[in-house]
Amino acid sequence: MRLGVLVSGRGSNLGAVLDAAARGDLPGVEVVIVISNRPGVPALKIAERNGVPVVVLARRDFAGAEARDAAIGARLRLAGVDVALLAGYDQVLRPTYFAAFGRMTLNIHPSLLPAHGGAGMIGMAVHCSVLAAGDRETGVTVHEVSAELDAGPPRLQARVPVHPDDSPETLAARVLEVEHRVVVEAIATLAAERERGPSSATMAVAPESVPPDAAAHE
Ligand code: GRF
Repeated sequence: MRLGVLVSGRGSNLGAVLDAAARGDLPGVEVVIVISNRPGVPALKIAERNGVPVVVLARRDFAGAEARDAAIGARLRLAGVDVALLAGYDQVLRPTYFAAFGRMTLNIHPSLLPAHGGAGMIGMAVHCSVLAAGDRETGVTVHEVSAELDAGPPRLQARVPVHPDDSPETLAARVLEVEHRVVVEAIATLAAERERGPSSATMAVAPESVPPDAAAHE
């Protein structure tokens, strides 16, 4: 399974995927390209250190977001990507992306979607929203991406406890650790499903994960 990864910043999830592949924990998976919408970000250095080709497609180099997103989809196709992973990609992809790529795209979101998803729910805003709601647990969702924000079908979720004395930063750190494990597991499961053929394409449930319905707005 040829994986393309879209990034915008830190790249710790990209690093987790590349480390897992190097350890042999992602059999049949190869990260073939990393695309960033921002030049000079740490994620690009992580890719380069691991020998993965990188491409920067910044919005300012295109007539508009639609054209840039079409170019991202086309570049993934050119690289022979089977599945794209949004790993801290900070823009909403326009329909031109989906038209150009036409294959599965996954996203990692640091909450139990649909809770704390949608417009503005990126980065620390997600964890602030969880704390403001008084939730006693949050989590991680890996879901398929559709043109509608944070709304594609979930593939894997895992719960993370919220501690009474959590700040957004301590909660973010606890969630991020789980993200790194869950993203690898979701990719491994998808690769295994694709290997076995379409009839086995069911959602995997990790030991401490929950079916998406049970996670909604607790
Ligand atoms: C992660 O929290 C991910 O869930 C969200 O953006 C963050 C990216 O972190 N979509 P990193 O760039 O992978 O370190």
